[in-house]
Amino acid sequence: MRLIVVGCGVVGQSFARLLVSREVELVKNYGFHPRVIAMVDQKGAAINLKGLNLKKMLSLKAEKGTVAVDPEFGRVGMMPLDVIESVEAEAVVEATPTNIKDGEPGLSHIKSAFRAGKHVVTTNKGPLALAMPALTELADYNKVCLRFSGTVGAGTPILSLAKKCLFGDRIVSIRGILNGTTNYILTEMDEKRISFQQALENAQKLGYVEADPSMDIDGFDASCKLVIMANWVMNKKVTLKDVSIQGIRNVAVQALEDAAKKNCTIKLIGSIQNRLKVEPTEISRHDPLFVGGVLNAVTFVSEFAGEETIIGRGAGGMETASAILRDLLDIKQSLASKLTA
Ligand SMILES: NC(=O)c1ccc[n+]([C@@H]2O[C@H](COP(=O)([O-])OP(=O)(O)OC[C@H]3O[C@@H](n4cnc5c(N)ncnc54)[C@H](OP(=O)(O)O)[C@@H]3O)[C@@H](O)[C@H]2O)c1
Repeated sequence: MRLIVVGCGVVGQSFARLLVSREVELVKNYGFHPRVIAMVDQKGAAINLKGLNLKKMLSLKAEKGTVAVDPEFGRVGMMPLDVIESVEAEAVVEATPTNIKDGEPGLSHIKSAFRAGKHVVTTNKGPLALAMPALTELADYNKVCLRFSGTVGAGTPILSLAKKCLFGDRIVSIRGILNGTTNYILTEMDEKRISFQQALENAQKLGYVEADPSMDIDGFDASCKLVIMANWVMNKKVTLKDVSIQGIRNVAVQALEDAAKKNCTIKLIGSIQNRLKVEPTEISRHDPLFVGGVLNAVTFVSEFAGEETIIGRGAGGMETASAILRDLLDIKQSLASKLTA
C-alpha cells in the first residue's frame, strides 16, 4: 500500500517511527507492506515513488524542521493538495492540526483525496466534527474508505469496540469521558480541593494543556468526539452544531464537596441519547466512568449485551500512530474481502 502522509508533527512522526520499528513484523504477520512515498509538512514535501527512507525523513525533520529539504527527493513549497492530486498512491494519512472553525486544511485534503480515488485515514477531528455526513457520502460516492480510529481515544479502540465487538447488537446510548485534560483538572480539584484555576495551572505545568486551552476546557474537543461516535456508531447524521456544550470553567470546589458527601464526583460527560450533550455531570464513585487523571472512559449501552465500558489513555503520539496502523490494516482487509466476494 503506497501512502502519502500529510502532517509530520507528533502523530505523523510517531507513525513513521512505528512503521520503521515494525516493518518486518507487518509483512510476516499481516502480509502488509506499507510504503510511504510522500511526506508533507508546512514547508513542502518529500516524494520518492519507490518509498522514502523513513529514518532519514525523521532525522531531517528533527534537524532541519522540514522533510522538504531532502537533497534528492525534497520539494520545497509543494503544497499538500498538489501532492495528493499528482502522486499516485492508495491512501492518504491526514494528521494536520484540528480546526473547528472551518475544518481546514484537513477538510480540503480529505475531499481532494477522495476525488483522486484515494482512501483516507485521519486523526484530525475538525473535518469530521463539521462535515462527517457529507464526508462519508463523498467517500461512498468515490468508492473509497474513510477511517478515523485515532480521533476518539487515540490508541484506545473505542470506536472498534462499538462497531466491531458489538456488531449485530443495537447501541441505544453512549456516555463517556472523552477528554483527558479536563478529566485531569477535575480529578485534581476533587482529590486536592483546589480551584479550577490552580488545577489548570498544574495541568499546564505537566504539558497536558494546548497553548489555547479552550478546545479542551470549554468542551469542544469532547464534543467533536461525540459527533464522530454519533455518526459512526449510532448512524445519526449530526455535526458539531447539534451538540449542547458546556465546559468546566464554572465547576466550583463547593460543588465537588457537595457531590463527595453523596459519594459522587463531577466529570465532564459527553452523552448521546435523544440529544447530544457535553456538560459537567455528577456521577457515583461506583460508576465505571469514575476514572482519574488523564484517562478516558466510555460506556456503551446496547440492547442485548447491556453495558460495556472501555477505559484507556486518550492521547499520545505512539498511541495515535497505532490507531492509524489499525485503520490501514482494516482498509486492507475490507479491500481483500471485496475481491474475494
Ligand atoms: N498528539 C496527539 O496525542 C493526538 C491524539 C489524537 C489525535 N490527534 C490529532 O492529530 C492531528 C495531528 O496532531 P499532532 O499532535 O501531530 O499535531 P502537530 O504536532 O501540531 O503536527 C501537525 C503537523 O501538521 C503540519 N501542518 C500544519 N498545517 C499544515 C498545512 N497547511 N499543510 C501541511 N501540513 C501542515 C505541521 O507542519 P510543520 O511540522 O511544518 O509545522 C505539522 O507537521 C491533530 O488534528 C490532532 O488533533 C493528536
